[in-house]
Amino acid sequence: MSRFAPVALTVASALLVLTACDSGVQGTPGSSGLRDPYFPKAGNGGYDVTHYDLDLAYEPEEEHVSGTATLTARATQDLSAFDLDLKGMDVKDVKVEGKSARWNRAGQELTVRPHDDLADGETFRVTVRYSGTPATITDADGSKEGWLPTEAGALALGEPVGSMAWFPANNHPSDKASYDIEVSVPEGFEAVSNGELLNRTPRDGRMTFHWRTSEPMASYLATLAVGDYVIQRSTTDSGLPVYAAVTPDQDGPGRKAIARIPEIMDWAEDNFGPYPFSSTGAIIDRANAAKYALETQNRPVFPGTPDTETLVHELAHQWFGNSVTPKTWQDMWLNEGFATYAEWLWDEDHGGDSAQETFDARYDHGEDDYEDIWSFPPAKPTDAESISNHPVYERGAMVIHKIRQTVGDDTFYDIVQGWTKAHRHGNADTDDFTAYVEKMAPDEDFDAIWEDWLYGDGKPDEA
Ligand code: TRP
Ligand code: ZN
Repeated sequence: MSRFAPVALTVASALLVLTACDSGVQGTPGSSGLRDPYFPKAGNGGYDVTHYDLDLAYEPEEEHVSGTATLTARATQDLSAFDLDLKGMDVKDVKVEGKSARWNRAGQELTVRPHDDLADGETFRVTVRYSGTPATITDADGSKEGWLPTEAGALALGEPVGSMAWFPANNHPSDKASYDIEVSVPEGFEAVSNGELLNRTPRDGRMTFHWRTSEPMASYLATLAVGDYVIQRSTTDSGLPVYAAVTPDQDGPGRKAIARIPEIMDWAEDNFGPYPFSSTGAIIDRANAAKYALETQNRPVFPGTPDTETLVHELAHQWFGNSVTPKTWQDMWLNEGFATYAEWLWDEDHGGDSAQETFDARYDHGEDDYEDIWSFPPAKPTDAESISNHPVYERGAMVIHKIRQTVGDDTFYDIVQGWTKAHRHGNADTDDFTAYVEKMAPDEDFDAIWEDWLYGDGKPDEA
């Protein structure tokens, strides 16, 4: 759900509203971005998506995708026009409430002018028919996301903005929605996505996979993996379905990694609280399919077989990031600090270094392994290029550890589990977090931690 107020009327749009409309509503255009401090064009103003229905066909030979995206949304202002984010692809037509809409494109903005203006609070459906070869997007830091062709098919990864390469969206973490993703592929290919597989339907030499994500998901966590995967289904002790896909070349080690998921899930539930989703799993692709792992909802993606810490990290993100989602990309450390701290905790609980030892090692010589670790404070990354740098991960985890040092283990785990419960399936920012910690430990003073560790420049003075 978007928390952003629409931008102020410009003089031009104020003049436009003088035209009367069939619906009797005289709307103004929604904004073309949500003014995210790091990705100002990401997302759009004036509406809130509740559901995405993607109906896609993929041709591996031609690297071609065609289909229809139907978004159900609620207007949050009277709207004469609104934007969707879509980068590349050819748009064939756009309908709003079944009526043809005018549309035009500029960069990643697909601007839609419905036949009738939409009233504040109105629920509407927008349908976009489109096709093309989805783009691979190169981020400011040089990493690739969006649509990645692989040896055996393709892999869609969306952090921070890549999902707009394969479907039109309100592409910002503040607007979460449920999803139906239906993908038709030539028979013999597997198609793996988020949520649960409702059915696979063969027809005319093709197979349609229907995936449903009922719990809210941010667009950056949507994935689609098409390829020659070996599928492994099982359940955890508590009955949670595990759906994992492994490329044939990782089959042996991949199977071993997947066999650890139930144990990690049990451990994570003990530490972080009830698992927020209806299934789990993993997508283990070839080592060169991507340069990084990603915590795509329900089933994280790994380029090659992950080690246990990486598996723990991406599964921990299901609580931190996927269920409790940042309000803006500035709050990234809430994702990565917690997911990194989960690795420290795992080691502590499994005969490795204690979190205190890991903290001390980072404090004393963190810059040996993480050269940039003191280059900016976790809650204020320098720019869009730095949101996945070590201060966000390692120093973010150090902030969590400072809280634990201050409150002791009992209150610490109450805070962690209370936090995931309070914001389950929602959005939260750094202020929400610091206020929550202070509320849970009213006798402690956290000011120095916030000032030095979270917001302060340079290496904090004392550990
Ligand atoms: N979130 C991923 C992880 O820690 C890493 C990552 C991949 C990332 N792409 C990114 C972080 C883009 C920030 C921006 O597992
Ligand atoms: Zn992470």
